[in-house]
Amino acid sequence: MSEMLKIEHLSVSFEGLKALDDVSLNVSDDEIFGLLGPNGAGKTTFFNAITGFTKPTGGSVYFFGKDVTNLNTTEHCKEGMARTFQNIRVFSQMTVLDNVLVGMHKNLNSNFFQIFLKTASQRAEEKRAVEKAYEILEMLEIKDTANEIAGSLPYGTQRKVEIARALASEPRMLLLDEPTAGMNPQETDDLMYLIDEIRKTGPAIVVIEHNIKFMLGLCDHIAVLNFGKLIAFDTPEKVANNPQVIEAYIGAEEE
Ligand SMILES: Nc1ncnc2c1ncn2[C@@H]1O[C@H](COP(=O)(O)OP(=O)(O)O)[C@@H](O)[C@H]1O
Ligand SMILES: [Mg+2]
Repeated sequence: MSEMLKIEHLSVSFEGLKALDDVSLNVSDDEIFGLLGPNGAGKTTFFNAITGFTKPTGGSVYFFGKDVTNLNTTEHCKEGMARTFQNIRVFSQMTVLDNVLVGMHKNLNSNFFQIFLKTASQRAEEKRAVEKAYEILEMLEIKDTANEIAGSLPYGTQRKVEIARALASEPRMLLLDEPTAGMNPQETDDLMYLIDEIRKTGPAIVVIEHNIKFMLGLCDHIAVLNFGKLIAFDTPEKVANNPQVIEAYIGAEEE
């Protein structure tokens, strides 16, 4: 086990609105870490600030000891971060298999010219990439959709395609922004099991969810945000019994 994420006083402001307000926490590389909070609490902003989609207005992000605060999204990917989005982003006109192959490009050695020349080593590399893509699809239980157009698939399956594409880059940390949004209870349970399986194959997982039951069952540690502030950071049991957390949720439900 080693320290994966070290967040120090991270803040993001949008024209005076503190979407993320002085958040500090650590995550180790052997856990499933969850981020909870009512709508608008700053969860997606936290992901964006960590992965280079939004520039923090204050604070620092360290990833395996390296300061990545000011890196761009491509550089974050090279460091080993991969993510999915709250609103699904798949290449909807491409097949499922091609979506996964696109996610793999950072690990392919061949350059642009070699792709046209198709050397023997290029063809071997392509073959390995396709095999690897099928392995990922199999793990996510969507191998049978490999040749289907991603955009034609049910919502829950597209969410899995997006996770497969993120996994294709062989990340050290996989960030999932509301992966069960739009899923029925059965699909949600299945995905919870799969996330646990993914964790066992390698990457640490950081997951955002509203679904408290899902989070309590899945995560090793949970951070709770409310109005951009970190109000709890603890084990699931302690978070579930934290009066401030209960108040934030009940308050949010009454609105
Ligand atoms: N690009 C942006 N410009 C302005 N305000 C934003 C932007 N992104 C998020 N916000 C605001 O920041 C707050 C936190 O949003 P967000 O991180 O999306 O919350 P969550 O993911 O927890 O629902 C909200 O009040 C939201 O309206
Ligand atoms: Mg969000």
